Amino acid sequence: MDEIFESMGPEETAEFAEKLGREARSGGVYCLSGDLGVGKTIFTKGFAKGFGVSEMVTSPTFAIMNSYEGTELPLYHFDVYRISSGEELEETGCMEYFYGDGVCLVEWAEIVQDVIPEEALWITIEKDYGRDEDYRRITLRRKGGGEA
Ligand SMILES: Nc1ncnc2c1ncn2[C@@H]1O[C@H](COP(=O)(O)OP(=O)(O)OP(=O)(O)O)[C@@H](O)[C@H]1O
Ligand SMILES: [Mg+2]
Repeated sequence: MDEIFESMGPEETAEFAEKLGREARSGGVYCLSGDLGVGKTIFTKGFAKGFGVSEMVTSPTFAIMNSYEGTELPLYHFDVYRISSGEELEETGCMEYFYGDGVCLVEWAEIVQDVIPEEALWITIEKDYGRDEDYRRITLRRKGGGEA
């Protein structure tokens, strides 16, 4: 079953993500998808805060992945926008982090979905043009079929 959270503004999205960041456990993989400007980076910053990252989190513009120290574990923040396939991600060697002790958060994960672990949590952020400009529907789903 999907879990749906309706956000009415950037602060609500950040708070929701912060809670997920606090609850994240070793080996967790969080896949974020959604259009340009929908709120993926706002979500990531909130998540990182909940995870205990004190550094400023920015989008990895030149790298595919940035790592940050959380309270107990590292957070690996991927942005695979400029990658074209799972195969290409494999060639970078970055995939090993999906199977390590830290937590991974992957922006644009749908591009590399063939190499994302089964147990990953998929988070989709969408606008609804019939609603307020700041409205976002955030859907959580585990493709492996487990509980979100
Ligand atoms: N409910 C909401 N949740 C998140 N962001 C919102 C919301 N309402 C409005 N916004 C605005 O939407 C924008 C989201 O920007 P953000 O950089 O997080 O998007 P993004 O998905 O990372 O974009 P890109 O794909 O270009 O990296 C911000 O300007 C934010 O203020
Ligand atoms: Mg972004």
